[in-house]
Amino acid sequence: MLLPHGYSFSLEHCAAHSHCFTPVGRRWLSSKDRRKAVLITGCDKGFGHALAKCLHAKGFTVFAGCLLMDENGDGARELRNMKSERMKVLQMDVCSDQEVARAVDFVKRTLKEPEEGLWGLVNNAGISTFGEVEFASLDNYKKVAEVNLWGTVRVTKAFLPLIRRAKGRVVNITSMLGRMASPSRSCYCVSKFGVAAFSDCLRQEMYRWGVRVVLIEPSNFVAATGILTAAGIDRQAQALWSGAALAVRQDYGSEHFARHVATMKSFVSSGLKDVSLVLNAITEALTSPRPRNRYNPMEMYWWVRLQVMTHLPTAIADWLYIPGATL
Ligand SMILES: NC(=O)c1ccc[n+]([C@@H]2O[C@H](COP(=O)([O-])OP(=O)(O)OC[C@H]3O[C@@H](n4cnc5c(N)ncnc54)[C@H](OP(=O)(O)O)[C@@H]3O)[C@@H](O)[C@H]2O)c1
Repeated sequence: MLLPHGYSFSLEHCAAHSHCFTPVGRRWLSSKDRRKAVLITGCDKGFGHALAKCLHAKGFTVFAGCLLMDENGDGARELRNMKSERMKVLQMDVCSDQEVARAVDFVKRTLKEPEEGLWGLVNNAGISTFGEVEFASLDNYKKVAEVNLWGTVRVTKAFLPLIRRAKGRVVNITSMLGRMASPSRSCYCVSKFGVAAFSDCLRQEMYRWGVRVVLIEPSNFVAATGILTAAGIDRQAQALWSGAALAVRQDYGSEHFARHVATMKSFVSSGLKDVSLVLNAITEALTSPRPRNRYNPMEMYWWVRLQVMTHLPTAIADWLYIPGATL
């Protein structure tokens, strides 16, 4: 199955975690909710793939955007093999104007009542990277932002007319790193802080249209998804080291760099292995009559750290959590 490291997602799993299946939170999905349609980006694997199945099992019509549908990727094929009228799989690279325009067209043509619009858009597609500022190239920043930030902006702008018509929901998956910085994650943080800013502005603009814009800020679920792999980290590490200036390599030293890569690799099997906290938050964002503006699917440790990092003076927050920081 498509979630690595021995984690598997199945509808049985979804049923076993009743907070992921109906009822949503304390409510049952209404029959009206069950007739709604939602488009999700990045459904080849990870959260997006699991969400597509979970929302479909609840009765939604799901438009599952996949990066690799045209290449017969595993995730797209698995969704297509469900052979359900309510599971529509479509090719959609969020970085491509053309593919996004085609997706809008497909949704318009496929919706049973297009004049009622599209209820939900979940901007989930994303990539991750690491590397201290002096090692990360400008291209690293641009590549991550191209998918995470500009992809979200592109897809949202394209689907907003349909979402406004439905007075529906835009649900953007950022990260706890979209609100709190972390050493060696600047490329990712820049992109996710950008998505958070975009979402906050959009939320304020959309009140008058009855559209709700919701941010989902998960903590670490790396072990449950494919966003970081040991092989990917090795590849990135090689590029970071060989791309860095000689002076940077000498000043930081290979030992420091190797330690850093080893720490990143230890993340691959870390974090929460059950994605239902995230699926549940997204479902709540799509179905609650009064969704929150932000959901924080995370364990207590990260929730406390997020509060400290975002509410206390930065000098104190850094002193508490960042090695080397002094008061
Ligand atoms: N996992 C975590 O710990 C975590 C924590 C906080 C936030 N998030 C966020 O959650 C979202 C989903 O991540 P995930 O962990 O589920 O990662 P994942 O398993 O790697 O899934 C991400 C999906 O996005 C797809 N994708 C990448 N570039 C794309 C593009 N240009 N157009 C369309 N789709 C594209 C990937 O396609 P391929 O299969 O072809 O790569 C993949 O299907 C991301 O926005 C991520 O930043 C994840």
